[in-house]
Amino acid sequence: MADVVKIGLLGCGTVGGSLVGLIHKRRSAIEHTTGITLEIVKVAVRSASRERSCPLDPDTVTTDASQVVQDPSVDIVVEVIGGIEPARTLILDALAAGKPVVTANKELLANCGAELYAAADKAGVDLLFEASAAGAIPIVRPLRESLLAEDLSRVMGIVNGTTNFILSKMSLEGSSYGDALAEAQRLGYAERDPTADVEGFDAGAKAAIMAGIAFGARVVAGDVYHEGISQLTAADISFAKRLGYSIKLLAIAEKFGTADDGTSEIGVRVHPTMVPNDHPLASVNGSFNAVFVEGAASGELMFYGRGAGGDPTASAVLGDVVDAALNLRQGNYRRVPSGPKAKIRSIDQLESAFYLNVEVEDLPGVLSQVAGVIGGHGLSIESMEQHGTGSGARLVFITHAAAEHAMQGAIAELKKTSVVKGVAGFLRVLGE
Ligand code: HSE
Repeated sequence: MADVVKIGLLGCGTVGGSLVGLIHKRRSAIEHTTGITLEIVKVAVRSASRERSCPLDPDTVTTDASQVVQDPSVDIVVEVIGGIEPARTLILDALAAGKPVVTANKELLANCGAELYAAADKAGVDLLFEASAAGAIPIVRPLRESLLAEDLSRVMGIVNGTTNFILSKMSLEGSSYGDALAEAQRLGYAERDPTADVEGFDAGAKAAIMAGIAFGARVVAGDVYHEGISQLTAADISFAKRLGYSIKLLAIAEKFGTADDGTSEIGVRVHPTMVPNDHPLASVNGSFNAVFVEGAASGELMFYGRGAGGDPTASAVLGDVVDAALNLRQGNYRRVPSGPKAKIRSIDQLESAFYLNVEVEDLPGVLSQVAGVIGGHGLSIESMEQHGTGSGARLVFITHAAAEHAMQGAIAELKKTSVVKGVAGFLRVLGE
C-alpha cells in the first residue's frame, strides 16, 4: 500500500499546469519506484474561472494562496507563482509550519536566498529549487550533492534560452537582432517586454544562485555584473565567426583562491562572450541551455538540456517533489550549503581575453600607434588582422587575458587618438 503525500500548489500557470499534468501521468510510475502516491489537494490560482487544459480537480482550487499554506492536510508546498511577493511570505510561512517547499522561483532565490535557506534549516525541512536555474537541467542538485566536496573553480554556462535562440538565429541564419527577437517573440520564447532576458537579468539571477551553492557563499542578484545582447550587431557576429568563435551570452561564476570556507573572492558576471568553436559551449544552439563546471578533482563536466518551458521546468519541479516526499517520510532533510556573504571581485578586476575592432586612418605608423596604446595598458596582443575599408582600415585584435580595467583604459585612450575613427567592436573572449 503506497504512502500518500499531499501537495499544495501555489500557482497554476504554464509550469504549474504542466506539473499537474505530469503528476497525473507519472503517478503510478512514482508509486512503483518510491512507494509514494502524490496527491494534489489544494491549488492557489489567480482566476478560478480560467479554463485549464490540465486535469485539475475543481474542488481543490482556491484564489486564497494562504489557504494552501495553512491547510493542515498539505504535506509539501510547491511554489510556481514567481516574483518576490507574495511568494516570499508564503514560502516562509510554509517553512515555519514545518512544510518542505519546492520552488522554481529564481528571482526570489537570487534576492532572498539566504533568508529562505536559514528558515528551512531552522524548521529542519527541505527547500528544493532545481527548476530555478536552467529548467530541466539537473545542475542545482549536482552542485548541492554530487559536487559538494569538490573544489570548484568555475561554473559557467548558457542559462537563457531566449538569448541563445536569438544569437543562434543571427549566427546560423544571418538574421538581424530585431528579426531574431521578433521570431523569438512569435514562438513564445521572448516576452513582449524582453528586457529581463535580453539585458541579462534572468541569466544574472541564475548565475547568483549557482555561484552561491558552488562556492558556499552568499551571492545575490545585485552582485552579478551583467550586460545583455541588445547592442550586438550582425558585424560582431560575422567577425567572431570568421575568427573561429561563436558569440554566446555566458554567465560566468569564478572562485579566486583556495579557501574552502566561502572566504575566497568570487567573480560573477553575464555578458556576450566569444567562445572558441572547439569549446563544448559553442555548439549549444537554439533555445537550449548548458552549464560547464570545472572542479579540481572532477575536471570538466557539462550539463545540457532545455532551460525553459512548461514541461521541462515541471520535470525539475517534480523531481524535487519526489525527493522532498521521500525525505519527509524518512524524517530528514538536506541543508542548503550556504556560507558567509561572498567577497565579490568587481568587473574591473576580472580577467578575460578581448576582441577589439578599431576603425583607423590608413596612414604610415597607424598600426604601431594603435598597438602602442594597447601595449601601453599592459595588454598583450595574441593575433591581429588588418582590412582595407576603402576610406581607411579596420584593425582587429585578439588579446591575451588581462584585467577588464586595462582594456577599458585602452579603449578610452584609443577613442581620443586622432588616427582612430572609432572602436567598432569590443567583446570578451573565453579563455582558459
Ligand atoms: N526566459 C528564460 C529563458 C526562462 O529564456 O531561458 C525562464 O528563466
